[in-house]
Amino acid sequence: MAKLWAGRFSQDSSQLLDEFNASIFFDQKLWRQDIQGSKAHSEMLYEIGILSLEEKNQIHQGLDAIAQEIAEGKFKFKLSDEDIHMAIEGALIERIGEAGKKLHTARSRNDQVAVDFRMFVLQSNQAVIQKLCALIDTLLKIASNHTDTLMPGMTHLQHAQPINFAFHLVAWCCAFKRDVERLQASYQRNNFSPLGSGALAGVPYATNRESVAQKLGFFSPTLNAMDSVSDRDFALDMLYEIAMIMMHISRVAEELVLWSSYEFGFVSFSDEFSTGSSIMPQKKNPDVAELLRGKSGRAYGNLIGLLTVMKGLPLAYNKDTQEDKEGVFDSIQTALTCLEILNASLQDLKIHTDRMQKMVLVGHISATDLADFLVKECGIPFREAHHITGEVVAFAEKEGKDISQLKEEEILSIDHRIKRGVLKALDLKSSMNARDSLGGTSTHQTLHQIYTLQEWLKNMENTHG
Ligand code: ARG
Repeated sequence: MAKLWAGRFSQDSSQLLDEFNASIFFDQKLWRQDIQGSKAHSEMLYEIGILSLEEKNQIHQGLDAIAQEIAEGKFKFKLSDEDIHMAIEGALIERIGEAGKKLHTARSRNDQVAVDFRMFVLQSNQAVIQKLCALIDTLLKIASNHTDTLMPGMTHLQHAQPINFAFHLVAWCCAFKRDVERLQASYQRNNFSPLGSGALAGVPYATNRESVAQKLGFFSPTLNAMDSVSDRDFALDMLYEIAMIMMHISRVAEELVLWSSYEFGFVSFSDEFSTGSSIMPQKKNPDVAELLRGKSGRAYGNLIGLLTVMKGLPLAYNKDTQEDKEGVFDSIQTALTCLEILNASLQDLKIHTDRMQKMVLVGHISATDLADFLVKECGIPFREAHHITGEVVAFAEKEGKDISQLKEEEILSIDHRIKRGVLKALDLKSSMNARDSLGGTSTHQTLHQIYTLQEWLKNMENTHG
């Protein structure tokens, strides 16, 4: 069949060009949005008197039938259709004849692809938000059971101060919450309809872009036609936001890899989310967490890829932008899958609180509390208190103990100014609970943080359903 645009051509295009030029084999993913857009457009054409009721109805029935064929996998996508827009329009004309030929009035593929792709990105934006919220919900559920579970808090991956496990999980939640907020912000920024921009300069028909925008769920039409058909920053917003999500996922995944090692032993993945080795029969590997960590690579690549495609493009539409789609599809799929898998593997995660407790006793992590006790309760200047604490640490090392395991008499013997009651300062749980400043790790503060996030989540459910 002749191409829809072949009027001014006398020779067929080469097969090589057809293959190079076509996007049909990847942009068919946009079929739902393309049909949705065409229905809104034809409805508007009817409202302004360009289509009769009869023609509009024929178009809608034809589009619905095509949608069903595609959904059932019966629609044949052909290279000669070039892209999803021409595939659907061509099939419509084949199916309903004359009325189908009027659908493309006051429209160009340039605003058509812009609206399809924007709707796809915005719908995916909402889907990623849902998955992030589900993940945060799971983390908060686990956290609620562990606000009193001691573990070593680290800096430089070295034992630093005692924290509780929930506090660590809440830290993850805060990052994922900001990811949600970034998505919400870009949704607000980008939810405007480019349809009706035409090829680049608007159209010479008295169209009603507001009506189309409203039907498609946009806030309103975009302002400038040339910008609307050429910008892809709505897609770059999404790629950046996903890159950030994947960076957060990879940090979480890295901790899960570490924690599931013998050396840490804080958690283990259920068999369902672990893998074996083909040569070492004893092994249980955290492949899931490693893949979650590794998937950030492609997300960063897709972002840099599209930024590079867009760089230096003159206004308005250029075919270069056809290269916008595959990376975006890939990043969205990657984010959705990774969020789902992370969520599922966390729900099944075994948490070894005994091991966390044991590791908290390594590294004298209440040393700062001892120094503070010497200053506050014994009137010793900080520099000296620091020195005495060092001596206590050295004594404990000699005894093969953590300072929190020393007897009161042993500590008192190190300096005559040290007062009784010192054990309380060294107690790891009191040390954790002493950090009761706003945002701190005390059980009380952690519960407050969990509550705040739970309230936020409830509010999200009410607004996003
Ligand atoms: N397949 C094209 C794309 O994805 C659709 C727009 C084509 N417009 C054009 N003037 N050739 O960008």
